[in-house]
Amino acid sequence: MDILRPRRRPVAQAEPAAGPAAGAGIAFDRVSLARGERPIFDGFSLDLREQRIGLIGDNGSGKSSLLRLANGLLAPDGGTVAVNGRDTVRDRKTLHEEIGFVFQNPDHQIIFPTVGEEVAFGLTERGSTAAEARRAAEDLLAANGCAGWADRAIHELSEGQKQLVCILAVIAPAPSILLLDEPFSSLDLPTRLSLSARLARLPQQIVMASHDLDLIAGFDRVIWLDQGRVRADAAPGQVLPLYREHAGALGSAMLERGAA
Ligand SMILES: Nc1ncnc2c1ncn2[C@@H]1O[C@H](COP(=O)(O)OP(=O)(O)O)[C@@H](O)[C@H]1O
Ligand SMILES: [Mg+2]
Repeated sequence: MDILRPRRRPVAQAEPAAGPAAGAGIAFDRVSLARGERPIFDGFSLDLREQRIGLIGDNGSGKSSLLRLANGLLAPDGGTVAVNGRDTVRDRKTLHEEIGFVFQNPDHQIIFPTVGEEVAFGLTERGSTAAEARRAAEDLLAANGCAGWADRAIHELSEGQKQLVCILAVIAPAPSILLLDEPFSSLDLPTRLSLSARLARLPQQIVMASHDLDLIAGFDRVIWLDQGRVRADAAPGQVLPLYREHAGALGSAMLERGAA
């Protein structure tokens, strides 16, 4: 079977999600989206309800666009996106109560000069006083191996430490869903392992785009995006071997083309 040909139907299909209440999670309903002149999604529908969902696909397949639609950073041209029942366009102002987004590049996320301010910000947004937010930020930092970091200048942290601060800042106000866009791409192995262990313990629903397939091997569900369509959608044990096969074949083809 030629798995390289884009398909209208996914090559593998997840079992329907069990558990969460109706309206929980993220629902894409017949979404269309163009960026610049390029159509990215057209009639795209998908329900994301499992606790741990991995998003894979070649560069340009639409992973970041999907996460940005879910977080209200992009508005669909057609159709709707709902997060725990809140429409990402109509309810955009309150969406941050449901969902947190960790950017691929910490420098695109960080607003404040110090760690404490960055982590406390989401809490003041949710109505805490400055003193309450500061205390809660210090507690959260201490609980994650960063005791005494509140007054540290963020620009003096390593990339891995910045990434950890970004994750803590996003989880501080306790959104029920976390979106992570290749959050570990610039981290060394020890930092990657410790951060992924921290994430594994979080109670939040997590949707993570990743090129590191090992990182999502234990997830509940993996979705393979290909040119704005779902190419495969099932348990990691089913989807990851298919994607590895595709990547291997594509890599060989690229090598041959380069050699020609
Ligand atoms: N800021 C942008 N302006 C115009 N087109 C974009 C922009 N960002 C991404 N795209 C296009 O959208 C498509 C999907 O990109 P993206 O969602 O970033 O994919 P991925 O995260 O899977 O690499 C690609 O064709 C890309 O060129
Ligand atoms: Mg991306």
